[in-house]
Amino acid sequence: MAKQASNRIAKIKALFGFMCVPYLVAAIAVGWQALATPAVGELEEVDMRGKTVLITGATSGLGLWQAEVLARWNASLVLPVRDLKKGQAVLDRFTQEFPQAPAPVIMEMDLASLQSVRDFAEQYAGPVDVLVHNAAVLGTGELLRTEDGFEECLQVNYLSSFLLTHLLLPRLQQSAAGRIVHVSAKAHEWGNISMQDLRSRKVLDLDFPKRRLRMMGNLGGSYADSKLAQVLFSNALARRLPPNVVTHALHPAIVPTGLLRQADFSAVQKFLHDNMMQPVMRLVGFTQSEEDAPKTQIHVSTHPAIQDVTGRYYSPLSPPLVHCGQKAEYCGISSISEAAADRFLQEALFETSCELLDLNNGLCAESPDS
Ligand SMILES: *[C@@H]1O[C@H](CO)[C@@H](O)[C@H](O)[C@H]1NC(C)=O
Ligand SMILES: *[C@@H]1O[C@H](CO)[C@@H](O)[C@H](O)[C@H]1NC(C)=O
Repeated sequence: MAKQASNRIAKIKALFGFMCVPYLVAAIAVGWQALATPAVGELEEVDMRGKTVLITGATSGLGLWQAEVLARWNASLVLPVRDLKKGQAVLDRFTQEFPQAPAPVIMEMDLASLQSVRDFAEQYAGPVDVLVHNAAVLGTGELLRTEDGFEECLQVNYLSSFLLTHLLLPRLQQSAAGRIVHVSAKAHEWGNISMQDLRSRKVLDLDFPKRRLRMMGNLGGSYADSKLAQVLFSNALARRLPPNVVTHALHPAIVPTGLLRQADFSAVQKFLHDNMMQPVMRLVGFTQSEEDAPKTQIHVSTHPAIQDVTGRYYSPLSPPLVHCGQKAEYCGISSISEAAADRFLQEALFETSCELLDLNNGLCAESPDS
């Protein structure tokens, strides 16, 4: 009896030693940060009638929630989707729920294919005022390649958004107030980029599988690298855009859906994640409700004040996005990692991206002065 009991205790101890310590540490860190952080705040409604907003990845999660709010605000939506059936479902629902708004334009585009991005940019002939790079994959932590030979997160999360930006820039230039929004993530702080790996191996850092996190999979691997690339891109882009087009990156909030669920959790990990970590994170405000989670990207995509600055990085983990006691464009501004702020790296990545995509006109025509 006693032996059995101590056996069981040993088992529980082993389980907890393995699982709960990182959880508790994370929960305490997260709680501390959340307590030091005011809530996101209420969104300021913006009349978007007559403005065309293109959002990638809008068939689910943050992108879909953002699209819903913008439809309510009467925006003209252009939603390139990988899966046309899912896109049709969004179209059906939106035309019913938001009859006052223009019907969204649904078109096919697969960010894992450069040809598909080019085809989309050629077939969509309309205007673009706001371009939201929202779609992302988490990846598995293994080196998977697209049909173009690039590592999956590199191409889907970053390189295709570079190409799309390049191809749509003439439309953005024609806008009275053009805006490019990169939905990056705080995970960019864990990213690493090797120009040599990028040039010769088509991956941002060949060693990324070693940075796989036990509980969060590729969140610290090539996903983080691609999120770093987005912030670097936004900064290099800010130096090249005409004055009527601005660019910003952001951390959207941690959403208790989507990305993390794709990670290959064991049954026990999944149980602990769903029943322990999720409620704790929700309670302390680190993860957010469906209503709060897309607020940052909605705000950064629409608020008029954010047209007055460029190359910023916004985060709901910083003071509230509105009414922070300063001018609106300074609310919610957050710091970026040292690597992301490295101007040499920003320029090197930009130029290498032009080379890898074989682009030499438009944005890729010349280096910015100064
Ligand atoms: C959207 O359009 C409807 C109908 O014209 C109008 O009542 C509503 O105020 C508009 N919303 C915004 C945010 O401008
Ligand atoms: C990033 O990569 C370099 C080598 O390319 C390495 O020296 C450095 O330790 C890496 N940093 C991280 C955080 O993995």
